[in-house]
Amino acid sequence: MAYSPRYSLEGRIACVTGGGKGIGRAIAERFAKEGAHVCIMDRDSLVIEEAVTAIQSQGGAASGHHLDVKDQKKVEEVFQAVEERYGRVSILVNNAGITRDQLLFRMSQEEWASVIGVHLNGAFHCTQAAQKQMVKIGYGRIITISSVSALGNKGQVNYATAKAGLQGFVKSVALELGPFGITSNAVAPGFIESDMTKATARRLGKPFADFVEEKTKVIPVGRSGKPEDVAGAALFFAGEESSFISGQVLYVAGGPKA
Ligand SMILES: NC(=O)c1ccc[n+]([C@@H]2O[C@H](COP(=O)([O-])OP(=O)(O)OC[C@H]3O[C@@H](n4cnc5c(N)ncnc54)[C@H](O)[C@@H]3O)[C@@H](O)[C@H]2O)c1
Repeated sequence: MAYSPRYSLEGRIACVTGGGKGIGRAIAERFAKEGAHVCIMDRDSLVIEEAVTAIQSQGGAASGHHLDVKDQKKVEEVFQAVEERYGRVSILVNNAGITRDQLLFRMSQEEWASVIGVHLNGAFHCTQAAQKQMVKIGYGRIITISSVSALGNKGQVNYATAKAGLQGFVKSVALELGPFGITSNAVAPGFIESDMTKATARRLGKPFADFVEEKTKVIPVGRSGKPEDVAGAALFFAGEESSFISGQVLYVAGGPKA
């Protein structure tokens, strides 16, 4: 008999922060294709609407939820509203993120605090809100988006610190919530084409195509990453089949890291 992994997310409620565009949207679209009801949580109403419409027009189930992951009270309210309206959340993707690149000697308190705030405080708020519902059903999949920058990156002491911090977060959550049927893992992407990397190219004064070409030269598989590459890795952790995999960091970078 053929062995078929259980990647179906049928009947699951999946929340994706920063799900309006880029990597988050690709994850949301992929999870919806596998049968989940996807809650697109983003601070940008326009991209929420675009993502929800796109998923629904492909026959998927999605709803939009406006929030800033830094705002704990709002996060609590939104997760409670999701539970009341759609049912208990069993999958959370901590994906919302920003960059404020700057060399250490020039970095402002605002550049430091805003990046730490979105990534670390954001993941803390959303995970704390989601786990309440996961514990009640004795099942959960928490997937947090880290980065190869966790290994150190010039001009990104704020971002690298946040992404490395998330890896400690993911492992600690895995230890605490494992007994409740909840796994916690990180996906750490390398260079992925998105608005975030387009903004980096602009800041460096390089046409995006040249920037992609330059980055691709050092990627062993010889191509840049796409949001769909990260979505595939997130789906692996989101499936029922991955119940014995927790506290791990999976680098999705077209080659070995860490
Ligand atoms: N693009 C890459 O090369 C790359 C590499 C490694 C890791 N990552 C990480 O992947 C994640 C997604 O990145 P992307 O490239 O898709 O970025 P993106 O800028 O294209 O999209 C980020 C999304 O997050 C939302 N967001 C930002 N701050 C928010 C907040 N406070 N509350 C709610 N929503 C918020 C934005 O509105 C946007 O929709 C981020 O965590 C990023 O750090 C990206």
